[in-house]
Amino acid sequence: MDGFNAGLGVNCSFCHTENKGTKQLEAEKDTKPEKEITRNMMRMTMDINKNYFQFNEEAVAQKVQAVTCYTCHKGIPIPEKEKKKASR
Ligand code: HEC
Ligand code: HEC
Repeated sequence: MDGFNAGLGVNCSFCHTENKGTKQLEAEKDTKPEKEITRNMMRMTMDINKNYFQFNEEAVAQKVQAVTCYTCHKGIPIPEKEKKKASR
């Protein structure tokens, strides 16, 4: 989870709902679309590592970690949009 925060430059509440009264994180809830998008992103990132960076048979997808969220996101939530903004 800390890796997500750093990779995207966000706080926990970017993906998780906060209780309005107590400001406590309600991490188990699935109310924010960002959380569901992240599940797909996790699958994609694992697949990239598994399918394209598995240099030997001993390598396990979770351990290879050649590609992480940061590889594409570089500390911003939507890589493409930020890139366009910067080039203008
Ligand atoms: C980029 C999105 C994202 C960010 C940022 C993020 N999380 Fe999560 N978190 C998820 C997703 C997606 C799951 C569910 C993973 C799964 O389905 O296996 C999850 C699961 C959890 C869970 C377990 C509950 C559950 O639904 O399985 C806890 C607790 C949690 N996160 C806490 C945190 C905390 C604390 C932070 C900040 C340090 C944080 N998260 C930041 C996306 C995020
Ligand atoms: C191969 C490149 C790549 C990797 C790796 C990657 N992402 Fe993404 N991600 C993108 C791109 C590109 C977009 C923007 C898609 C769009 O324009 O809607 C995006 C969008 C998202 C969004 C939606 C942001 C929004 O506000 O709509 C979330 C959340 C996200 N990524 C989380 C993650 C997490 C967490 C990881 C690591 C597990 C990850 N991504 C790894 C390329 C990547």
